[in-house]
Amino acid sequence: MAKKKLRIGIIGTGGIARWHAYQYLKMDDCKIVALADLVPGKAQKFAENLGIKGAKYYNSHKELLDDAEALGLDGVSICTYNRQHAEPTIYALDRGINVLLEKPFTVTLDEAVAVMRAEKRSGKILSIGFQPRFHASMQYMKEIVRSGRLGQVYYIQTGGGRRRGIPGSTFIEDKTAGIGALGDIGCYSLDMCLDAIGYPKPLTVSAFKTDIIGKDPAQYDEADRFSVDEFAVALIRLEGGVTMDFRISWALNVDTPGDTLIIGNKAGLRIPSTDCWNGGFGEMTLYETVDGKDIETKLPEPENKVDCFYGKVRSFLDAIKTPGAKSPVPSSQILYNQAIIDGIVRSANLGREVDIVIPEI
Ligand SMILES: NC(=O)c1ccc[n+]([C@@H]2O[C@H](COP(=O)([O-])OP(=O)(O)OC[C@H]3O[C@@H](n4cnc5c(N)ncnc54)[C@H](O)[C@@H]3O)[C@@H](O)[C@H]2O)c1
Repeated sequence: MAKKKLRIGIIGTGGIARWHAYQYLKMDDCKIVALADLVPGKAQKFAENLGIKGAKYYNSHKELLDDAEALGLDGVSICTYNRQHAEPTIYALDRGINVLLEKPFTVTLDEAVAVMRAEKRSGKILSIGFQPRFHASMQYMKEIVRSGRLGQVYYIQTGGGRRRGIPGSTFIEDKTAGIGALGDIGCYSLDMCLDAIGYPKPLTVSAFKTDIIGKDPAQYDEADRFSVDEFAVALIRLEGGVTMDFRISWALNVDTPGDTLIIGNKAGLRIPSTDCWNGGFGEMTLYETVDGKDIETKLPEPENKVDCFYGKVRSFLDAIKTPGAKSPVPSSQILYNQAIIDGIVRSANLGREVDIVIPEI
């Protein structure tokens, strides 16, 4: 007898949904059975372009999820813009559906907490779409940091991004994106470092953010629509005596706001800045002092054998299929990532340092 395939829905059929669909289509233990988008006809066109057959189409996450029982739905990919992450995820979890949610987790900390409460009520899998975690480079970096070779990590510089590269589309308006470079690429560099050091709790943040180039019609042709951050910088204190110096940019008048540095009392690691976030970042440099001599070791990028988008989707399906499995990219970690982003926004708006207070889930 043929094994039952996992029945999957895709909510939001824009740019990133394609990368979810490509992976599901490669796997023979799942089937895309439903697609939804707010733009009438978009979900159907998306399915036809990708050769997805026999699926049903809907005009919102609610319509699709209200039909979950009839569809025999096991899981959904939520690929909507940031402002539509929390509501559809809560709606899905409350209907007993497992969720693979695109990054950033949410826009605000309050939303992330509400999602986690729904996750707790449901007992279902919620995995957040940080595909770089599945890349060999990221895993190698994490292995070095976790090996203890750096000693006690006390200072991290991270972020990076672009001199020019404001994305456009639904990424640049408050009503759809809510946060700009912070949510688009900032959450990745935070995840890279926080995951490596075991996701310590954030305590305080002092931040600045700006939209000065994005709002300038002489420099950006969609300046009239631009209403999110293009550059943010923050000093973040973490539990365990770690200080993080964070800068992220879509637009800044310099080649890069800097590489990532993870510094301990025994050694330091330099990870080159990237503007891509597919997980690969090239050669790292390790700085050690051995017998009084300063040594610099180049660490070549390992071969990446598995597409990180495949890893992200596969790990979600495996978690659904395995009784008692834990989420591959758990909300309990990404909550701290979101709390930092939320703190950056609050601190920048107030013009002073703020405490990060994380409610009980
Ligand atoms: N992991 C990655 O590498 C990666 C890359 C790009 C984007 N993203 C993330 O994915 C999300 C979407 O980005 P995108 O580029 O695909 O945006 P997009 O604007 O191309 O697509 C989003 C789609 O969601 C639809 N939508 C919004 N709310 C909906 C709802 N309630 N029900 C049904 N459909 C709804 C919109 O109509 C739109 O078609 C963003 O949060 C972004 O940060 C992740």
